[in-house]
Amino acid sequence: MNKKNVRDIDLKGKRVLMRADYNVPVKDGVISDDYRIKQSLPTIQYILEQEGTSLVITSHLGRPDGKVDQGFSLAPVAKRLAELLAKPVTFAGDCVGEQAKKAAEQLKPGGILLLENVRFHPEEEKNDSEFAKAIVAATGAKVFVQDGFGVVHRAHATTDAITKLLPSVAGLLLLKEVETITKAMEQPEHPLVAVVGGAKISDKIDILRRLIAIADCVAVVGAMANNFLKAEDVNIGKSIYEPEVLDTTRDILETARKTEASRQFNFLVPVDAVVSKAMDGSATTREVDLTSHSLSDIEAYPKIPPPSAYTVAPDELILDIGPITAAYIGGAIKASKTVIWNGTCGVTETKGIAGAHDPFAHGTRIVVDAMIGASRHHQGPFTLVGGGDTVGYVEAQGLVGDFSHVSTGGGASLDLMSGKALPGVEALADKEA
Ligand code: 3PG
Repeated sequence: MNKKNVRDIDLKGKRVLMRADYNVPVKDGVISDDYRIKQSLPTIQYILEQEGTSLVITSHLGRPDGKVDQGFSLAPVAKRLAELLAKPVTFAGDCVGEQAKKAAEQLKPGGILLLENVRFHPEEEKNDSEFAKAIVAATGAKVFVQDGFGVVHRAHATTDAITKLLPSVAGLLLLKEVETITKAMEQPEHPLVAVVGGAKISDKIDILRRLIAIADCVAVVGAMANNFLKAEDVNIGKSIYEPEVLDTTRDILETARKTEASRQFNFLVPVDAVVSKAMDGSATTREVDLTSHSLSDIEAYPKIPPPSAYTVAPDELILDIGPITAAYIGGAIKASKTVIWNGTCGVTETKGIAGAHDPFAHGTRIVVDAMIGASRHHQGPFTLVGGGDTVGYVEAQGLVGDFSHVSTGGGASLDLMSGKALPGVEALADKEA
């Protein structure tokens, strides 16, 4: 990365202001996923290892809309951070004004202070320079370290305006994220397989176009794949899809088919699916052969299956890819050297009823097994995982350590993969030539 990082400047004796992305899921004061907090620890430790430094951390949590709302307080994060660092973390009830100033004044060398949610002030999202000045004034910071990779796609006061006031450099997490993702997109080891899923195709249009240009195989899965099925006139019952981007979907499909004709490339759209009348696991499930190919192509098959076998009924929803699709994708992954994965294949959060396994998570599990099965023996592909829901799934399964890189960014990692500039990175000091 051509931006200065925390190792490129002298921090000795300085008060450092670090922007983190502690936008973690909190319910009734309990953090259910602390991955982003854990990933910020190396930068915190590095800063505090420098002689005489003290650290003030600022972050947002959720979208409180510029108003104070204790449901979005960072207080539980301060507690968790203190546990993880095994040292005290002071918490200030505001990021500007007297509360922040008082807490900052009491901060001794080696100390850490976490400020309350910056988005309690509407000026944060307005990229207001007076607000940024107020944070700097209250904290007495002399250096700014941007380590909130998840938020650098936003031009906000603590990602952009603040960089005009203090020497501003990247933290170690930001550096790792930008370098790893950029390398995977710009110099991947081929074959490169991308698995793109999730709920909405509208969020993934740019990344899909970029992946079709660089990858050897792109598989579309999850609810997003319904748009591709619909575009090909496959019956999808009452499955969700986005009619407003159907033309764009057709356009992507055409580009993909042209790419298939021009070089070694495969664009995989599900050929079978797990369907049910309910998403909550309360109804029975069945597997539908969407194309009818897999069943009717078997010569010795006793009889051609009835159309209902490969048609999603009007009251059914597609909730996962089927085993044949999962096998196609798994096969491509097994032959790959790099995998980029963003978006689960089905509704992985639905719990099974009466002891049944998560009914719509099998497709994801098969694809994940293909990605990480061999990596335990150090032979598997380089695996890059991004996207909030996908990372949540990987965390919940206890599989973070099995992937090469699990990004802390949702929108930020998508923008970086799509080749878009990230305002919070652009704003940092350039490395000297
Ligand atoms: C995220 O979770 O993607 C980041 O924290 C950014 O949050 P935002 O989409 O509310 O800006």
